[in-house]
Amino acid sequence: MKPIALITGASAGIGADLARVFAARGHELVLVARRADRLNALADEIAKTGKPRPVVLASDLEQRDAVAALAAELSSRGLEPQFVVNNAGFGLSGAAATLSRDEQLGMVDLNVRALTELSLAFVDSLARHRGGILNVASIAAFLPGPGMAVYYASKAYVLSFTEALHRELSGRGIRVTALCPGPVSTEFQTRAGLELPGAAKIIELPAARVAEISYDALMRGQRVVIAGVGNKLAVALMRLMPHTLLLRMVDTRTGSAR
Ligand SMILES: NC(=O)c1ccc[n+]([C@@H]2O[C@H](COP(=O)([O-])OP(=O)(O)OC[C@H]3O[C@@H](n4cnc5c(N)ncnc54)[C@H](OP(=O)(O)O)[C@@H]3O)[C@@H](O)[C@H]2O)c1
Repeated sequence: MKPIALITGASAGIGADLARVFAARGHELVLVARRADRLNALADEIAKTGKPRPVVLASDLEQRDAVAALAAELSSRGLEPQFVVNNAGFGLSGAAATLSRDEQLGMVDLNVRALTELSLAFVDSLARHRGGILNVASIAAFLPGPGMAVYYASKAYVLSFTEALHRELSGRGIRVTALCPGPVSTEFQTRAGLELPGAAKIIELPAARVAEISYDALMRGQRVVIAGVGNKLAVALMRLMPHTLLLRMVDTRTGSAR
């Protein structure tokens, strides 16, 4: 079986840049997202750099059978993950009680359920190839998020689960890293229905930089990586602030930070 890096959400934003970084560092790739045209365009771009063309698997990871279908497809092609990058995810801005319940549960299916299943599905091959798992959380993982309640809670799950897995799998030689980006200008904001506020621009990083930082952290076996000095400072401040004040500041319905 040929070892590959499986990257979800590679059709846009941080995931597309993670694919570019993994390819540049010599990994063969399997790219996953719903939009096959976008994945194929990225696969062509990577092939033009002289690297092997990534395999493209279009999949809606909100669907219950998606991970089993991906695993079967990999196996039928003689491929098995050395690295799993759980990057696909989305957020929705608005009060949880008024946003669509179906869409919010879909977010849990993608951000939490699919990420969990993909983290656990390939442990044997990750161990065999001494590889790892990169799970994309957010600095939103460090606090509750009124105005994006389900999204923030989903990222808190990702951080908690990933830190625990880091410890559980270290004995098998598997690196496990939680990536916590701050604001990054991608399609995320459009889908979530929000704009990056002026204050967020100060700590914003380009997706390409976030991808490089997280690749290096994963290879070092770092448990958690907060991308960028500004975001590290923001998280340190959040930990010092009174909770009530923090909740008021985060409330996206008042148009403040997210
Ligand atoms: N941008 C930020 O400010 C920011 C900050 C912190 C954390 N993050 C996290 O970073 C990760 C990447 O976000 P991004 O900013 O790069 O957003 P993005 O540009 O919107 O990319 C999201 C990716 O997820 C894929 N995706 C969405 N729904 C999917 C589904 N049902 N099945 C399979 N793939 C799906 C999308 O592809 P298709 O639409 O083609 O399926 C796309 O490739 C997310 O987990 C996000 O929560 C982002």
